[in-house]
Amino acid sequence: MSDAIETDRPFDAEVGRLLDLVVHSLYSDREIFLRELVANAADAIDRRRFLALSDESLALPAEAGIRIRTDHSARTLTISDDGIGMSEEDLASHLGTIARSGTRAFTETLADAKPEERPSLIGQFGVGFYSAFMVADRVEVISRRAGSDAAYCWSSDGRGGYRITPATRDAAGTDITLHIKSDATEFLDAHRLDTIIRKWADHVSVPISIERDGKFVAANAGAALWRKAKADVTEADYEDFYRHLGHMFDKPWATIHWRAEGAVDFAALLFIPGASPFQATAEDRDSHVRLHVRRMFITDRAQLLPSWLRFIEGVVDTEDLPLNVSREMLQATPVLARIRKALINRVITELKSRAKDEDSYASFISQWGPVLKEGIYDDVDHRTDIAGLARFRSTRNAELTSLDAYVARMAEGQSAIYYLTGEDHERLAASPLLEGMRAKGFEVLLLADPIDHFWPERLGSYQDKKLLHVAKATDLFEAATVDPAVTDFAAALKAALGESVSEVRCSARLTDSPAALAADAEGPDLAMQRMMRRAGRPVFAGPPALEINPAHSLILALAQRHQAGEDLADWAALLLDLARIGDGEPPADAARFTRFVAAHVAADVAADVAAQVGGA
Ligand SMILES: Nc1ncnc2c1ncn2[C@@H]1O[C@H](COP(=O)(O)OP(=O)(O)OP(=O)(O)O)[C@@H](O)[C@H]1O
Ligand SMILES: [Mg+2]
Repeated sequence: MSDAIETDRPFDAEVGRLLDLVVHSLYSDREIFLRELVANAADAIDRRRFLALSDESLALPAEAGIRIRTDHSARTLTISDDGIGMSEEDLASHLGTIARSGTRAFTETLADAKPEERPSLIGQFGVGFYSAFMVADRVEVISRRAGSDAAYCWSSDGRGGYRITPATRDAAGTDITLHIKSDATEFLDAHRLDTIIRKWADHVSVPISIERDGKFVAANAGAALWRKAKADVTEADYEDFYRHLGHMFDKPWATIHWRAEGAVDFAALLFIPGASPFQATAEDRDSHVRLHVRRMFITDRAQLLPSWLRFIEGVVDTEDLPLNVSREMLQATPVLARIRKALINRVITELKSRAKDEDSYASFISQWGPVLKEGIYDDVDHRTDIAGLARFRSTRNAELTSLDAYVARMAEGQSAIYYLTGEDHERLAASPLLEGMRAKGFEVLLLADPIDHFWPERLGSYQDKKLLHVAKATDLFEAATVDPAVTDFAAALKAALGESVSEVRCSARLTDSPAALAADAEGPDLAMQRMMRRAGRPVFAGPPALEINPAHSLILALAQRHQAGEDLADWAALLLDLARIGDGEPPADAARFTRFVAAHVAADVAADVAAQVGGA
């Protein structure tokens, strides 16, 4: 027995089980059977067109296309094409052998074809056809190979086996008839079929039509605009496609159409929406740029753009992406990463050039600026580029400024880029923290978007200039000569205010206001703290410092009264409240504040009146 046969034996397969796996486990969505059958039909037409280049007798009929019709009483759905067709052997070999792809075998023969003639075919795995059995309990394929008169019918219930019998067909091509399962009646509805075609096969280059009330109606948009040369596309074509794609009614602010060749080949058509009513929301931070592989829609969830570019609509189409059998999930592949990188760089280049037209760019910024700035925080690789593309309000005037322009204007002796964050520009412009900056002639960026609380620290610096929140620029404003009475008074204020302030310090920052609040240099600034509190988040920050203006008449007067031994607890509370109001906060105790102010104003007015009466 030692001389047992040592040759490899062929694997055996439970064909019925294998088919069952393909039909029931491969695809997550039953409707894709139609995509698969249409893809096969489109491949067949492309193959015939290619072969006709060298054999005129195979030429496609003038109206070559894919026709879909349903028969409710017979419960059948038929997909017909004018493609290359299948001979008896083809039927047995291509439809009778799971995982044998006649299309891929054909593609492999094309290596020597001229690139401009070489069709780009979809089929490669040899399993798509069987998806028909997800919705059909019997499938009949009647096919006639182009160049032959003989037609055959292949039929199967997708379980036991298949049978091939002679048939007739008027012309070359293939009819695939599905006997629809009782639980798949939806696929007999022309509307439903239309929706599926528009979703998955809108840009198959072959015309697809669906029969409705006896007439065939076009179901796909056809030619993939993004695959055309730019010169062959008009502005109107782009706008139509933009509206079609994003369900938009406006015009795109920018249209970016190009074909990348090199490390990875792809065609892309991206739109930056104009004054669109649709805002990129915080809830959905994903990019929905659509990924097509050889014109077939694959997914709009491939995150082709980072979330800071999620407002961009468009399509990317590549031949280079390895798909898995179900064409659903993408394998982790460096190709996607390369495409993403190329897309980001192209968009950045476009924005840089569009930024030169200031008016138009301002409209882009008002629409998408806040989303764009998320990238300064999120995107390590492009942070500096994005910061350069962002535009800001500042204390200079109402116009927007870039960081580059800001740096170019920096005053003598100014070493940092100063900014102030808060809820809105008007309130920011009125902040007492700006008084000293104005006095020095230092411009300050006024940042009023929620994201502005986050990115400046991440960015750190721009053009080697540190970004600094004005509240933290305390060293600029150390008060040089302070009346000792004021210094004493400051200490008394701290004692009176206790834990509600971290310190009371004399500062040369203020010119008009008696007092202002400044956050701790290490922690989040006060506007940020407010925002976190409003969002119900814990705030890890100590109390703010109270800065007082040692030259202000109120401070000087109070310092004298303090020296005279007066108890100034109420005045301490008032100063803190004034500072809080200056920062956009309500007084700590509104009732006490109102009573105190009203009493003093009343006393003032009474004194005025008395003086006038006395003078008269
Ligand atoms: N309408 C058709 N006309 C001509 N040949 C067809 C048609 N439909 C299918 N075929 C042949 O049957 C084969 C099997 O089709 P199937 O969809 O299972 O695999 P595929 O298209 O090659 O690959 P994929 O799994 O990627 O779809 C095809 O490769 C093709 O040779
Ligand atoms: Mg296929």
